[in-house]
Amino acid sequence: MGYNTWNYYGTNINEKAILDTADKMVELGLVDAGYNYLVIDDCWSKKRRDPETGKIVPNPEKFPHGMNYVSDYVHDKNMKFGMYSCAGTRTCANYPGSFDHEFLDAETFAEYGADYLKYDFCYKPKDADGPLLYRKMSMALKASGRDIVLSACNWGEDHVETWVRSTGVDLYRSTGDNYDAFKAVHDYFTSQLDKYAYSAPGCFNDIDMLTVGMFNRGNVAHGGCTRTEYKTHFALWCMASSPLFIGCDLTDIDPYCLDLLKNKNLLRIDQDEECRPVFVPGSQWGDSADVYAKVLSNNELALCFVNFSDERRRLFLNLDSLGITAASGYGLRMKDVFTDEDLGVVKEFYDMELDSHDCAVYICKMEK
Ligand code: GAL
Repeated sequence: MGYNTWNYYGTNINEKAILDTADKMVELGLVDAGYNYLVIDDCWSKKRRDPETGKIVPNPEKFPHGMNYVSDYVHDKNMKFGMYSCAGTRTCANYPGSFDHEFLDAETFAEYGADYLKYDFCYKPKDADGPLLYRKMSMALKASGRDIVLSACNWGEDHVETWVRSTGVDLYRSTGDNYDAFKAVHDYFTSQLDKYAYSAPGCFNDIDMLTVGMFNRGNVAHGGCTRTEYKTHFALWCMASSPLFIGCDLTDIDPYCLDLLKNKNLLRIDQDEECRPVFVPGSQWGDSADVYAKVLSNNELALCFVNFSDERRRLFLNLDSLGITAASGYGLRMKDVFTDEDLGVVKEFYDMELDSHDCAVYICKMEK
């Protein structure tokens, strides 16, 4: 959990933006809520490596005091510091990539005091082997002497879920770039339904940074979402156990979205130590109104009802499809994660209505 600069700042990152974001993460209670990584994305370096040392060099206009200054500032706020590079020859925004410089760059990031590296996939030489490139950076970081989380970003290519855990990578982007529109929320969450089972402690499926609170501002604007749509976005990312990286401007955050990002029940679902895959209990009402379920630790269950359609709709869940038979006499005690309201024990089936693009999420326990 943390913050990544790409969605809002894009190419316009600089020291002030990072320091202000670090201050805000503490002030707004986001670090206390668990968002403790601050990751600088693409566009932080000079366009060329240092001709003598071969090292990547921070852009002195954007980072006048160098990277250690920024990293120390972030560490002083009790946060972890993240950097960005690319497995190809250039980054996606055309800055130097780490191809053939993996060990030197890993040492450089360790010198910066980095705790995290996002590692992209642009400008990969045609014959280079994707899995081997991630293995190289993984080994380079492990050799660097610093504990650095490696976040692979190959957008789900090469069936990444099948080999990425073996490389030592800690999380892996499985989707294209998230953009600020409800279509992306639907498409990216559902694109992984047959792959969430690969995501587990040690190596997590990352369905990309959050657009919650962006309201069509920043680098990935695409019409924006409503508060209701951000609510559904965040709920689905938590059901997916995706890593959670905030992307909106924290110096001007909408209070509803801030509360949403700090919702303790949803964060508990996201961070559940067992990280079991979300499943579809097979009782959808129509095509675009869906029910998703996930087994949690402590014998609990998370249920998420979503209305992806453009009209108000009825959703229906037969408890039998969760494995809870009517004959057992058990039902579900359901707690609404947004209001903390206890709905009592629901038996046999549950049905409800939802507005367009809205969702309802419950943490449930079996009871007679
Ligand atoms: C993309 C990546 C984005 C962002 C961008 C930077 O490949 O998926 O998350 O890092 O590059 O140029």
